[in-house]
Amino acid sequence: MKLKGKVALVTGAAKRIGREIALALAGRGCHVAITYRSSRKEAEATAAAIRRKGVRAMAVEADLLDSDQVRQAVRSIESRFGRIDVLVNNASSFYPTPWATVTDAQWEDLIGTNLSGPWRFAQAVAPGMKRRGTGKIINIADVAAFSPWPTYLPYCAAKGGLVTLTWGLAKVLAPEIQVNAIAPGPILMPKEIKAAERKRAIEKTLLKRAGDPKDIVAAVLFLLEGSDFVTGVVLPVDGGRLLA
Ligand SMILES: NC(=O)c1ccc[n+]([C@@H]2O[C@H](COP(=O)([O-])OP(=O)(O)OC[C@H]3O[C@@H](n4cnc5c(N)ncnc54)[C@H](OP(=O)(O)O)[C@@H]3O)[C@@H](O)[C@H]2O)c1
Repeated sequence: MKLKGKVALVTGAAKRIGREIALALAGRGCHVAITYRSSRKEAEATAAAIRRKGVRAMAVEADLLDSDQVRQAVRSIESRFGRIDVLVNNASSFYPTPWATVTDAQWEDLIGTNLSGPWRFAQAVAPGMKRRGTGKIINIADVAAFSPWPTYLPYCAAKGGLVTLTWGLAKVLAPEIQVNAIAPGPILMPKEIKAAERKRAIEKTLLKRAGDPKDIVAAVLFLLEGSDFVTGVVLPVDGGRLLA
C-alpha cells in the first residue's frame, strides 16, 4: 500500500507507542486521525505535531467502552477526511488484577478496551474499506496473548481474543482488507511497574533488553507498505520473549 495521501486512524494515540505510530504514518504522507479518552491536551499536541509534517490531522474523543462513541468517531473522521484506509487498534488499558479479587468493573474495562473496542472500530471502518476495495487493519496485541501472566488474566484473555479476532477478521474481510496483529514484548513499561518487575521482564527476553516504540513502528510500516500479501498474521516484536 502506498501511504502517501491515505487516511489512517490510530486509536489511543495521544501518547507513547500510539503517538509514535501516528507520527510515523504522518511522516509517510498519511493524513492521520487519532482517538483519545482522557488525554485531550496530549492528543491536541500530537495532532499539531502531525500537521507540522504537512498532512491533515484530527483528534477525536472516543471511549472504546461505548459503541456509540466509536461509531460517532468513525463517522466524523470519514466525513472530514472522506474515508479511512488504515486502522491501527492501539488503545489499551493495562493494570494488575490478581485473579481472586478481579471485579466485574475491571473485567468489563479490560475486555472492553482490549477486545470489544478493536472489534467495534473494525466493524465501523470495514464497510467503507470493502466498498473502496482496499484497506488494512492492524491490531496491537501482546505476547501475553500466548503466555498469560497470572496477575493480569483479564488483560491476557482480552489480547488472546484480539489475536483470534485478527484471524477471524482476516477471513471475513478478505480479499479487500488485510488484517494483521503485532504482539509486542516489553517496550515501554508503565511507570507503575516496579524496578524488579522491569528487570524480570527484560531477563525473560532472549535479547536481554526492552524494545523501543520504533520497533513497533517498523512492524506497522512493514505490514502497511512492505507487503500486501500478508494477512491473518501475528508478528511478535518481543526480543525473543515467546521462545525464551
Ligand atoms: N508498552 C508496552 O511495553 C507494551 C507491551 C505489550 C503490548 N503493548 C500494547 O501496545 C499498545 C500500546 O501500548 P502503550 O503502552 O503505548 O499503551 P497505553 O499507554 O497503555 O494506552 C494507550 C492509550 O489507550 C487509551 N485508552 C485506555 N482505555 C481506553 C478506553 N476505554 N477508551 C479509549 N481509549 C482508551 C488511553 O488514552 P487516554 O490517555 O486518552 O485516556 C491511553 O493513552 C497497547 O495495545 C498495548 O497493550 C504495549
